Amino acid sequence: MDKLIVTGPCTLDGRVRISRAKNAYLPILAAVLLSDKPIHLKNIPELQDIKTMIKLLSNLGVKVEKKGEFTTFDASQLNSHEATYDLVKTMRASIFVLGPLLARMKKAKVSLPGGCAIGTRPIDLHLTNLEKLGCVINLKSGYVEAQVEKMKGVHLTLAFPSVGATENLMMASVFTDGVTVIENAALEPEIDDLAHFLNAMGAKISGIGTKAITITGVMSFHEVSYEAIGDRIEASTYLMAALATGSKITIEGVNPRHLDFVIETLVQMGAEIETTEDSIAVSGKNLKGCNIDTAPFPGFPTDAQAQLIALCTLVKGTSVITENIFENRFMHVPELIRLGANITLKGKSAIIEGGTDLTAAPVMCTDLRASAALIIAALATKGETEIQRVYHLDRGYEKLEEKLTKLGAKIKRVKG
Ligand code: UD1
Repeated sequence: MDKLIVTGPCTLDGRVRISRAKNAYLPILAAVLLSDKPIHLKNIPELQDIKTMIKLLSNLGVKVEKKGEFTTFDASQLNSHEATYDLVKTMRASIFVLGPLLARMKKAKVSLPGGCAIGTRPIDLHLTNLEKLGCVINLKSGYVEAQVEKMKGVHLTLAFPSVGATENLMMASVFTDGVTVIENAALEPEIDDLAHFLNAMGAKISGIGTKAITITGVMSFHEVSYEAIGDRIEASTYLMAALATGSKITIEGVNPRHLDFVIETLVQMGAEIETTEDSIAVSGKNLKGCNIDTAPFPGFPTDAQAQLIALCTLVKGTSVITENIFENRFMHVPELIRLGANITLKGKSAIIEGGTDLTAAPVMCTDLRASAALIIAALATKGETEIQRVYHLDRGYEKLEEKLTKLGAKIKRVKG
């Protein structure tokens, strides 16, 4: 297993280009299954999760060809409707193929994703609402087996604005007979991006960016080229890395409005931030702690909570960070404590007494964003921090070492 050695502390300087969003491209890739016409996707990030989704598509019969910045997908001849356990167990987002397979093939067999490091993460909202669209669903031997004769347009209300359920249901409904409304839909920018992509293929989706998304069924799709939005979580991570090291950097290729709450939080902590339409310049020293609850968009993203905790360990004052989305998302805390951080966990909250000098130690990645927190801490820590199990990072951060090295960090990968 590869590990990273980060030699700190360092100061970062310069500009970094943010990759296209993994969480936008994962559902967009699943949506490829809906069309029998060619789809050209630009700048898909080279990440493990993306590779897994593309492998899943290939297993279902999709032909994939990469040429320069574009990857072309041809799903005209699907030869399977089954997503097997081997792939689904490595990536929960595989469940995104359920809606598109039902819409296109009228049947799907998808392994239940099971739990993951950050919580149990059920898919009940996906399944109960697919049933309301007319699907017949059975859970058998660890698989969701679903079929539908005719998907019908209905009014759905999500009990919780689940990102994945909103996306799956939107994809499932594109060819319905009639109109589907998803009430209490999630508002995350990746959902808008998926809707824009589906519309670019010929879908008829309105209410994009609101809590009531309306999908009017259409008959077919046409050829399309599309590029997803910049990754707001990668961007948030670089912003926090800069502040953790008292640096000044500019990140490019992301819409600042997608991370309004993160920017607002950092400004309240004392950061200086300037934005353009697609860039964010950040600097700041002598920051103070904060009091933040994670919440669905437009609230503070759970996916940036671990990175914020790492930053809070390094700034003066007490911070309280409460995790409201996932029940077990503090696994970075014991690792940060190994580096000398002063953090107490109390129920859903982490109480951080900031301003401690961290000391290098071997630490271990436990999930994607927890790993990003360890990188942020390591950049500010004196000595060589050895970060083990970096395959978690490889799931979500494209060219991490290359980008950080270009900014001035000392980071090297040891293959293992
Ligand atoms: C997506 C993101 C993930 C992010 C999360 C919250 C992708 C690929 N992943 O995950 O990075 O952390 O949004 O912003 O886009 N829930 C249920 N039943 C369901 C579905 C969800 O109870 O059927 C619960 C989950 O257990 C969790 C909460 O709802 O507690 C939020 O989950 P959801 O918004 O669905 O997150 P994901 O789509 O899994």
